[in-house]
Amino acid sequence: MKFFLDTASISEIEEAASWGVIAGVTTNPSLYAREGGKLSEFHAHIKRICEIVDGPVSAETVTLKRDEIVAEGEILADIHPNVVVKVPTMPEGLAATKMLAEREIPVNMTLCFTVPQAIMAARAGAAYISPFVGRFDDISEDGIEHLANVVGALGNYDFGHDVEVIAASIRHPEHVLQSALMGADIATVPFAVLEKCIKHPLTDRGLEAFLADWEKVKNS
Ligand code: E4P
Repeated sequence: MKFFLDTASISEIEEAASWGVIAGVTTNPSLYAREGGKLSEFHAHIKRICEIVDGPVSAETVTLKRDEIVAEGEILADIHPNVVVKVPTMPEGLAATKMLAEREIPVNMTLCFTVPQAIMAARAGAAYISPFVGRFDDISEDGIEHLANVVGALGNYDFGHDVEVIAASIRHPEHVLQSALMGADIATVPFAVLEKCIKHPLTDRGLEAFLADWEKVKNS
């Protein structure tokens, strides 16, 4: 499973990229707003992310009609060759995805919650499909079970093009673990969760013991 970073924070992206573990980035309007992002700087911000991470960078469209989504997607795709256009899973989004895919612009279909939605997204030509895990948990449903259903169902078919499943709306390391076990191609992970994923109390305790023993060696 690959890790994408789910953020619009340049400092988080720089730090995670320095660890050598992130293969891409996903952003959304909420994440950009959280950074105090301005509309006039949005394209430059996406370009900056593409310069830091050598991999797919999802930038979300914010219009609701197919022609507008396509126009927006074409502008986003012009920012950098690694931009992936993020399109909501809805009828107009499917139509836009079909048109963008025909223009060889990769699409990440987002806000995907069910197997039928995922199959339709794949049929429309989406290169990436993002089932949301945490938002199911928010309404007391098992998001991982839904993710597993999507991974299993898509694996049954050949869509004639590559389709990668991005486990999205990841809230904690257990989601990451389960996404890997369920066979998601990618988990897009907030920086705070990525940090938690690399930590373990036994690692910390082991390191403390090694350092203490090394002090003894140095003083011997
Ligand atoms: C990523 O592509 C999604 O936009 C993101 O994971 C959504 O996460 P949230 O449900 O925590 O907002």
